[in-house]
Amino acid sequence: MRVFVAGATGAIGRQLVPRLVAAGHEVHGMTRYESKQSMLEELGAVPMVADALDPDQVAEAVGRARPEVIVHQLTAIGAMDMRHFDRDFALTNRLRTEGTDHLLSAGQAVGVRRFVAQGVAGYGAYVRTGGPVKSEEDPLDPTPASEMRETLAAIRHLEEAVLGARWTEGIVLRYGTFYGPGTSIARGQEQFELVRRRKFPLVGDGGGVWSFIHVADAAEATVAAVDHGRRGVYNVVDDDPVPVAEWLPALAQTLGAKKPVRVPRFIGRLFAGEAGVVMMTDARGASNAKAKRELGWRPAHPSWRKGFAAA
Ligand SMILES: NC(=O)c1ccc[n+]([C@@H]2O[C@H](COP(=O)([O-])OP(=O)(O)OC[C@H]3O[C@@H](n4cnc5c(N)ncnc54)[C@H](OP(=O)(O)O)[C@@H]3O)[C@@H](O)[C@H]2O)c1
Repeated sequence: MRVFVAGATGAIGRQLVPRLVAAGHEVHGMTRYESKQSMLEELGAVPMVADALDPDQVAEAVGRARPEVIVHQLTAIGAMDMRHFDRDFALTNRLRTEGTDHLLSAGQAVGVRRFVAQGVAGYGAYVRTGGPVKSEEDPLDPTPASEMRETLAAIRHLEEAVLGARWTEGIVLRYGTFYGPGTSIARGQEQFELVRRRKFPLVGDGGGVWSFIHVADAAEATVAAVDHGRRGVYNVVDDDPVPVAEWLPALAQTLGAKKPVRVPRFIGRLFAGEAGVVMMTDARGASNAKAKRELGWRPAHPSWRKGFAAA
């Protein structure tokens, strides 16, 4: 099939494009920059230069590629101050609202038969009541921390727009927290370095449950969704949802660092805001049973325990 990947040069895009090509697809990869065209060619894609926030440029690029499938992997996460979550996610939120809408209308104009978009299973996106591990049937958090309201609203917009597009097979992949090459959880990268330097404290009881996913496994699940996904939501996470109180010390040990500092919630709130405290103490994990069952996908890194060491 002809597959148009928006976000082809990013952490997930760079894993996804070569796998789509290896699966026999003709891939058109979008970037804002002329200078990244050669990177896309090396990955095996036809480069398409367009700004996702400009509806005319998106319509033109999609119109030229005439894809059968669009994959939306647009984010702009960069450096973050957890106390100003929505401020630092503002551009990502625009990519999830306006960016989604532009891609959907461009896709409708050429009649794409599948539209696969990046959703979120991590950072407290799921409702924070009930059990520790959520399925796709569980709702997103209706009462997010105040600093995350716009971010959750943007995620909700993306999901409703994609699932509501009845003219195509709209699929949302709620990815767990990425680790591995090209992500911030990799050797020498931001999160690993914070843990190594004991600057990633354990807040409160560390009872927030995280679901991780190796970025290569996320890409494999996405190839399966492009191929035979059905309209709906899939959690794309590993087999091992885990409280912060367990993974953070384990990661410190793997990195040869001292145990993380423990701080009470009110101290955590001072440097990480309510959003940070929610993630550390109250977030819920996700189950991958549906993705395994319906996409026929298995993570090659079923647990972060070995995966972190490999990364
Ligand atoms: N589930 C998760 O845990 C998760 C999800 C997403 C990201 N992350 C993490 O966030 C970190 C960085 O991610 P990131 O979002 O900053 O960058 P990224 O990984 O570089 O991906 C951003 C992608 O979106 C594209 N893009 C952004 N704005 C665009 C626009 N206006 N028009 C066209 N394309 C646009 C970029 O293309 P060009 O720059 O080539 O134009 C790039 O391909 C990584 O550590 C990653 O692991 C984690």
